Amino acid sequence: MEEDIHTNSSVPRIAVLVSGRGSNLEALIHAVKTQQLRAEIALVISSKSSARALDIAKAAGIPCEIVSPAQYPSRKEEGLKIVELLQTCGAQLAVTAGYSRIFDPCVIEAFRLKIINIHPSLLPAFAGSMAPGPQKRALESGVKISGCTTHFITEDTDAGPIIAQRAVPVMNDDTVETLADRILEAEHQLLPESVQMALDGRVTVEGNKTIVTSERSVYAGS
Ligand code: GRF
Repeated sequence: MEEDIHTNSSVPRIAVLVSGRGSNLEALIHAVKTQQLRAEIALVISSKSSARALDIAKAAGIPCEIVSPAQYPSRKEEGLKIVELLQTCGAQLAVTAGYSRIFDPCVIEAFRLKIINIHPSLLPAFAGSMAPGPQKRALESGVKISGCTTHFITEDTDAGPIIAQRAVPVMNDDTVETLADRILEAEHQLLPESVQMALDGRVTVEGNKTIVTSERSVYAGS
């Protein structure tokens, strides 16, 4: 019998939801390959059939599904399909990386505190819009520091418990593009690290905050 090269039962399975360019997906794939992220990307779900992220997933041999809003009569049915796909692929955790859809509550209920989003600002600043909205608003507001945030998805958009943040400087001569590139570089480190922390059970949610235990103290057993 032919062996399924995607099945590696010794590591947790994750799924990634995308809609566009896919550079964060690429960072996750790289982190898996270099064993900085001990997980298997079991499935990529895209809301758009034209997403470049799908090419990246296919090139890496990752199974892909398209769940586009036009295919479903309601957001609820779109959500139920997503839940079914996540459950069928055995994902312990899902990651939204440049995913442009707001989930129906049924997805959030089925995967409560098991969906991680990456946002290109230091939340709660500049919440509630897709890239490059947050980067543009950062420039317009005159902040001297911006960055990125990973957080669990809840019913309140961009307001779920924060897992980790990374700051980058805003330069005098920044354009939206140069600032977005600098933030993106930080995102590519922060997202795989955050996913690993969550898979390690190092992220405890208390109300709308998280307590993140350092790797050292976990291994020290404290
Ligand atoms: C990233 O800036 C991410 O923070 C935001 O959308 C962008 C997606 O980029 N949610 P990519 O598709 O991962 O390249």
